[in-house]
Amino acid sequence: MSYQNDLIIRAAKGEQVERTPVWLMRQAGRILKEYREVRARLSGFKELVETPELAAEVTIQPVDLLNVDAAIIFSDILVVPEAMGLTYEMVEKKGPHFPKTIETESDLTNLIIPDAYEGLAYTLDAIKITKKELAGRVPIIGFAGAPWTIFSYMIEGGGSKTFSKAKKMLYTNPMLSHKLLEMISDTTIKYLKAQIECGVEIVQVFDSWAGILSEEQYKEFALPYIAKICDSIEEVPVTVFAKGAYFVRREIGQLNCRTIGLDWNMDPIHSRELIGSNKTLQGNLDPCVLYSDFRTIEKKTKEMLDKFKGGPHIANLGHGVYPDIKPDAVRCFIDTVKTYS
Ligand code: CP3
Repeated sequence: MSYQNDLIIRAAKGEQVERTPVWLMRQAGRILKEYREVRARLSGFKELVETPELAAEVTIQPVDLLNVDAAIIFSDILVVPEAMGLTYEMVEKKGPHFPKTIETESDLTNLIIPDAYEGLAYTLDAIKITKKELAGRVPIIGFAGAPWTIFSYMIEGGGSKTFSKAKKMLYTNPMLSHKLLEMISDTTIKYLKAQIECGVEIVQVFDSWAGILSEEQYKEFALPYIAKICDSIEEVPVTVFAKGAYFVRREIGQLNCRTIGLDWNMDPIHSRELIGSNKTLQGNLDPCVLYSDFRTIEKKTKEMLDKFKGGPHIANLGHGVYPDIKPDAVRCFIDTVKTYS
């Protein structure tokens, strides 16, 4: 496939680029009224995720409306535990909820390592449709949650401030924990490979709750599984985003991935020292900067770009864009990146 705009792939590979590519985590979603309109016609979030034509439509919206340099396929990290056997509900204004969770060894026997083409066909179909409709305008980013983050939902049954139930499981039943993490990793590898077969050109692994673990726990229960995923995906560049895991940046820098996502607390210059010049860094503007006026957004974005000058960079926020941020503020961020030199 030849792309009209392949900046993100070249930047991920560490090749020379004319300018820094830019996209936003959670760009396909509630910041756009066009997304909310599509969503309002449906019973809920899950119906949108599971209807490939509509998932493709909202995947492309930010490419048309915000001019980002990549599309990220519209889905959720929670489709993986669902395909393994634990269904989720997306509760309006509250977030995800799993009616059944994993508590004992015997709960594991009800889980499967699904074939992605059976359990997750709707996302794969959405990728194929998006690919066709984009016709090479920009590449598509595929994604999955990192094993620890998925594990935490399967144990907790939803979001949490402390994730103490999931952490308790790591301390009290490391055998079960490793077994479940292994199953999640194997499912994720199959799923990412299927996404690549269907047309994504780059994949990102989201370890959203990385920062909740101690360094010791992260090294035992999170890193080895991310490493296994990175070692298994050779077809396209892999991005690892471990939010809050400032304490293992050096180790993450040694993974078999191309790009490392930084949150807004990870200083780009210090991170570059820890990670070295070989990898591409992605990030890391504080999403809350987008609540300020355009002059401030421009200033803070330029300051961020200056700090990433030491090596290959993909511009992004330090976490997902918040739903009440104005599209014009997002455009100001994107335009500032595109005109910076
Ligand atoms: O980035 C994109 O634009 C692609 C789509 C995408 C969604 N979720 C759509 C979504 C992606 C990449 C995700 C990943 C995801 N989902 C993560 C990792 C990234 C991160 O933010 O840390 C996590 C932790 C989840 C789990 C999840 N999904 C939560 C906690 C919630 C509820 C809170 C919230 O952010 O709304 C969701 C729901 C969700 N996923 C929505 C969207 C657009 C909102 C649902 C709606 O339309 O009402």
